[in-house]
Amino acid sequence: MRQSSLVVVANRLPIDDSVAPDGACEWRRSPGGLVSALHPLLRHTPATWVGWAGGTGPAPSLPDIGSVRMRTVPLSGEDFRDHYEGFANSTLWPLYHDAVEQPEYHRRWWEAYQRVNQRFAEATAEAAEQGAVVWVQDYHLQLVPGLLRELRPDLRIGFFLHVPFPPPELFMQLPRRAELLRGMLGADLIGFQRAQAAHNFAQLVAKVLELPATDRRIGVGDRVVRIGAFPVSIDTAEMAALAARPDVVARAQRLRHDLGDPDHVILSVDRMDYTKGIEQRLKAYSELLASGHVKVRDTVLVQVAVPSRERVTQYQILRDRVEREVGRINGEFGRVGEPAIHYLTQPFDRAELAALYRVADVMAVTPLRDGMNLVAKEYVAARVDDTGSLLLSEFAGSAAELPQAHLVNPHDLEGLKQGLLSALEADPADVTPRMRAMREHLHRNDIRAWARSYLSALDDGGSLLTHLAPTG
Ligand code: ADP
Ligand code: F6P
Repeated sequence: MRQSSLVVVANRLPIDDSVAPDGACEWRRSPGGLVSALHPLLRHTPATWVGWAGGTGPAPSLPDIGSVRMRTVPLSGEDFRDHYEGFANSTLWPLYHDAVEQPEYHRRWWEAYQRVNQRFAEATAEAAEQGAVVWVQDYHLQLVPGLLRELRPDLRIGFFLHVPFPPPELFMQLPRRAELLRGMLGADLIGFQRAQAAHNFAQLVAKVLELPATDRRIGVGDRVVRIGAFPVSIDTAEMAALAARPDVVARAQRLRHDLGDPDHVILSVDRMDYTKGIEQRLKAYSELLASGHVKVRDTVLVQVAVPSRERVTQYQILRDRVEREVGRINGEFGRVGEPAIHYLTQPFDRAELAALYRVADVMAVTPLRDGMNLVAKEYVAARVDDTGSLLLSEFAGSAAELPQAHLVNPHDLEGLKQGLLSALEADPADVTPRMRAMREHLHRNDIRAWARSYLSALDDGGSLLTHLAPTG
């Protein structure tokens, strides 16, 4: 088997299978922040990506994408239910997002989580050449660093958590908290989105495992595990170039026309997830319509909400509630040919997303909790003419980097309404410098800068970085 000096391990591969309208099976880029972040980065880097291809049963064998080899890990129907839908997305996901929905604890799910993590660790051990750098991603695979170190002590192992890492009061609920912490400590470097998360982790390690821990270093026997904040980003230049393309500009103009040439277009783009604050946002919008502060003819809201984790009950309940509320608002405030909300659940290609970003005068990104939120960054990158206002939740990781956004607390309905109105009514003289500052920040701190800072910390400035194109 061909082995690589850089192995990325993530629950999902950057592509998954879908069924085309004619019934044929086709591959498409998987939605979600992790793939959006890593896909542009690895396109030109010789590496192996170990991950799941999205279905159940035997693992399909996938062709290389550019210089990246795909190594698929199979999930059975039971693994899918108990590992992916269960422990990953019904225990850890809600717990790590402030328990905005109740996390569930089941012993069978924990067994599946261990089993699947073991399978990922074994596949990675086979794919990595002697002394390789292995970069494990996200909450689905927190045991992999420890399991991999046992199998392959020669490897340099990094772990990065894309989602928030919760405060000790919440994490302490986990029945198997010590094992999860120990699993992560198999890494040489543990990266978080925010410094607060690294602090939470250090506190927990000291409390639960009684190891010497600061917010930068943890002593594990004769090893030192480093921890720190590495806020993930996007391919800023690629999004800016896409948004400036003549066909995308023309598409944005067409979209505006099709929306009825309103004075204001508000856009939201989310995975259909209870962490994204979609219901709170709809409520705020509905109250603004009811009070007459926003009028349907002048303003439209485009809500894109691509379905996610569709068999998990909490996601089904959310989708039903969102769709009922959209129907109610359109029924109450819309007119023939003029809905108050344009609601779309389809996945779009990057050019269509860029056109949507270009048409949006206000982008409303108001999650209740989010590790980073790349949609907010994509919107800023697409505003190449320095127009547009970003309404951003203070509970999104990106808020720490984009203080020029209109920051809101999405739990505070009045604050949310006020924030939306301020963004809608912003003076152009105020909009331009805010947007310019955010765009400049993202050009300096793009996905390559993120990878460079993480990999140089992991690999002591090593050789992998030569494959990364410069920031810009
Ligand atoms: P999360 O990782 O929780 O899904 P992020 O905002 O960090 O949230 O990332 C979402 C990613 O998925 C972004 O890159 C965004 O462009 C992409 N995305 C969201 N909705 C769609 C959609 N309808 N079609 C295509 N891509 C989408
Ligand atoms: O980081 C959040 C995350 O779980 C990513 O791992 C993934 O890109 C995204 O959300 C989409 O989730 P899923 O893989 O469950 O569809």
